[in-house]
Amino acid sequence: MIFAANWKMHLGPAEVRRYAERFLAKLPPREARRLVFFPSPVSLEAAAHAMQARGDVMVGAQDVYWEPKGAFTGATSVPLAAAAGASCALVGHSERRHIFGETDADTRRKVTALLQGGLVPFLCVGEKLEQRDAGETEAVVLRQLRAACEALPVSELQKLVIAYEPVWAIGTGRNATPEDAALVHRSLRGALTTLGAPAVPILYGGSVNAANIASLMARPEIEGVLVGGASLDPDGWAEVVRAGTG
Ligand code: PGA
Repeated sequence: MIFAANWKMHLGPAEVRRYAERFLAKLPPREARRLVFFPSPVSLEAAAHAMQARGDVMVGAQDVYWEPKGAFTGATSVPLAAAAGASCALVGHSERRHIFGETDADTRRKVTALLQGGLVPFLCVGEKLEQRDAGETEAVVLRQLRAACEALPVSELQKLVIAYEPVWAIGTGRNATPEDAALVHRSLRGALTTLGAPAVPILYGGSVNAANIASLMARPEIEGVLVGGASLDPDGWAEVVRAGTG
């Protein structure tokens, strides 16, 4: 079970330290439950430091650039993210794809750079509403998956985590039904199995909250969640994680 919090462009270092203290006190480690936080790059080190005593917690970058160093103003390399305490990173989040123009080729380079640097890529895939309405959901998510990772050796592919996040469900209050999500998870699982990595965890994301998490996590296809809005408050996020742990 993976409970991942994507804080997007929120929570500075001091807020993250306060958050960590409150949240970790409320939620002691639990067998087979992994907690992951994706802070802003300016808060990455504060988060990693505040959570370092907890073996059940990982901290990661929301995005990385694939070059290891150089004149790339504004970008964060894998080695820099690692130096700040990241052990994983999101790749291909829909906001990166649709606001910042990240392409499938970019996601492939980022996944490769992360694996080379020893960080776990959390690859996000998901269709837009018009693609869903046109019956293209499966084609879109499988294209995004294959583009990012089909050239990888199986030993590397096995290190990934996948997050299925329908674009129309992110930050909209409109979540996929557990059945909708499970259907897409099964397609992704089939593709991963064909690629030789049947055990890669697949998370669901998009307007997950305390009221809907239990029904999502009740589906065996859904092995965790990636949550934005409902993860920003430590008390609220502890409640969501508890409700999802069952
Ligand atoms: P949301 O965001 O939970 O606010 O919909 C999810 C995400 O973008 O990962």
